[in-house]
Amino acid sequence: MQSLPHPRWHNQGEAVGPMSRAAFARANAITPGGSMRSAPFFAPQPPYAMRGEGCWMTDVDGRRVFDCANNFFSLVHGHAFPPVVQALHEAIDRGTAFGLPTESETQLAEAIRQRSPELEQIRFVGTGTEAVMFAIKAARAITGRPMIAKFEGAYHGAYDYAEVSLDSSPENWGDDPVSTLYAKGTPASVATDVLVLPFDKPADCQRLIAAHATRLAAVLFDPLSSRIAMVPATAELCAVLQETCRQHGILLVLDEVVSYRLGVGGAYQVFGLKPDLVALAKIIGGGLPGGAVAGPARHMAVFDHTKGKPPVSHGGTFSANPLTMVAGLACLAAYDQAAAARLNRLGESLRAMLGEQFMRRELPAQATGMGSLFRLHLRTSAITSYRTSLPSAAEKRALAAIHLAALERGFLLTPNCSGALSTPMTDDDIHDLAAAIAESVEEVHRETPWK
Ligand SMILES: Cc1ncc(COP(=O)(O)O)c(C=O)c1O
Repeated sequence: MQSLPHPRWHNQGEAVGPMSRAAFARANAITPGGSMRSAPFFAPQPPYAMRGEGCWMTDVDGRRVFDCANNFFSLVHGHAFPPVVQALHEAIDRGTAFGLPTESETQLAEAIRQRSPELEQIRFVGTGTEAVMFAIKAARAITGRPMIAKFEGAYHGAYDYAEVSLDSSPENWGDDPVSTLYAKGTPASVATDVLVLPFDKPADCQRLIAAHATRLAAVLFDPLSSRIAMVPATAELCAVLQETCRQHGILLVLDEVVSYRLGVGGAYQVFGLKPDLVALAKIIGGGLPGGAVAGPARHMAVFDHTKGKPPVSHGGTFSANPLTMVAGLACLAAYDQAAAARLNRLGESLRAMLGEQFMRRELPAQATGMGSLFRLHLRTSAITSYRTSLPSAAEKRALAAIHLAALERGFLLTPNCSGALSTPMTDDDIHDLAAAIAESVEEVHRETPWK
């Protein structure tokens, strides 16, 4: 797709215009905090989107923005990708959802299996949260054990067990990671059924898993977790998890909700892992809500409802709805080896350019990430884990200011200054993006240095 002319980002001015301000004032009366989701909110308020095309968005004030948030990394081809739009147009005329299966669900499942042969069978769900939840329930049912292990700081959606130690802090995180509850009111028993692991200490992971092995159903693992600083898991950690799980009959459950985009066959192939179950979402829905649990047939049999009540019942009114299925199919068909390799190369060059710019401008900042995913950190020390990446109060304030400064230049990052590239982006776009981010970091550092 041809890239539209670049916005004159030096002249963009205010990040939020009067129409967005009016929209936010109206929303405040009908929803807590004026935003239907917490994730897109940032102070003082976000602009309101009106339309998108490729890697560009237009807000309700008519400001054009280069979009690196891509609805929290779910749009790998950007907005209104023509093959997805066409597939949706054709499907919507036939009806949006049925109390019967459609062939489109088999087609998308087959397309995923063709890319990832170890994912022999699939069940579609509505979101990434559900995908992780059903993978955990399946692991418990398969092993007959109650506990899961997960990594400190890792985000896996909103299931109580998956939320444990999402926001641990120095006051409560302990030496070996302590299981801390996230949502207020979560039963304390949830914490006792979750073992928390340190991402940068494979030997400790091995020791902790072994100590709880007889009660552990699964190790839940995202090898490129955005909340663990978006630093890739080391080969050593991957090998330790694979082997320790095998040794103790614990299922290795991969959360590839975001990291699936790292390669055509998903993150497990990129990291050389052999998963027992995988949770998918985001790009497999082609921009529509969707997710999946997938894995070897012997494990997926836990959902089989044909022999009476299955070990794990799985329904979902909109699971496998035909709109998501056709959108996902069109999206994945266009995300082939060449497209994934090109996007990963753009990501590598973005991170390299940011590194050079930060060094040249003498800014205490670095960009982590892998493939088409990146995240900004306001320190130069080595980042290997949730703990070593946790921003100080001054860094948090500076990240929020940098996010706004980038938006003023016409570039949208997620509020914590991470992003995902999309296939319509060009080398020139990436060059401009790196310059805009570096300039935003420099401006904020000049005005309120965090270090
Ligand atoms: C790694 C990971 N797992 C699970 C989820 C939950 O997905 P969803 O927002 O579709 O429920 C997310 C969402 O961002 C995620 O990043």
